[in-house]
Amino acid sequence: MKGIVTKNTDELAAEALKVMLDVVQNNPNAVIGLATGSSPVGLYKKMIEDHKTNGTTYANIKSVNLDEYVGLGIESDQSYVYFMNDNLFKGIDIKAENTNLPNGKAKDMQEECARYTALLNSMPQDIQLLGIGANGHIGFNEPNTPFDSTTHIVELEEGTRRDNARFFASLDEVPTHAITMGIANIMNAKKILVVANGANKAKAVYQMIKGEVSESCPASILQKHNDVVVVVDEAAYSLCK
Ligand code: F6R
Repeated sequence: MKGIVTKNTDELAAEALKVMLDVVQNNPNAVIGLATGSSPVGLYKKMIEDHKTNGTTYANIKSVNLDEYVGLGIESDQSYVYFMNDNLFKGIDIKAENTNLPNGKAKDMQEECARYTALLNSMPQDIQLLGIGANGHIGFNEPNTPFDSTTHIVELEEGTRRDNARFFASLDEVPTHAITMGIANIMNAKKILVVANGANKAKAVYQMIKGEVSESCPASILQKHNDVVVVVDEAAYSLCK
């Protein structure tokens, strides 16, 4: 694992941008794996800025996202498909048909899991961006998810629902289930970029980098991947010193 510790979130986004652009500019047909939540927002802003200022193109880039809430679709501003359009896709020249997220409103969710895994197998990520949950989750793979899991439906932990309630009017509105890429699908990416900031991530970051590799901390599996870059601020890195 390569680690970069930054002074603040602006620097964090700038370092993450370098890693992302290295892939996108060297391979204009790359498949980029994307994430939602607060952690990647600074990076997405910088990708848009760079696209507008320096002309980096995403015209032939394809994207796959980690996850989606079950029951939410584009019409809901809390859905991840909405988030991606709003925070990234509308600001760059990626083609809508080249963007992929699991469908949280599929009629048959088991079929949707199989479809998404087949899609990922047909176009493995050249880079996968990850945030990390305070409990060490990656994607919505909560603690004790098998390392060999592929796309599946998860029941969200109470703590994860509480962490995400800030995006909703109330805790009751946070969906109870999500569809997520599995850990095996994440590990299949050629390169992994993890971004994390804030003291509430310090324990999870410690376990990811220095803890025992165990299903009790999903992110710890990243120690077994041969190309991981972790970009964190000082607060998130504080327990690793
Ligand atoms: C998002 C995702 C989650 C988040 C994690 C951290 O697509 O899969 O694993 O990356 O919950 O969320 P934030 O960045 O909001 O702290």
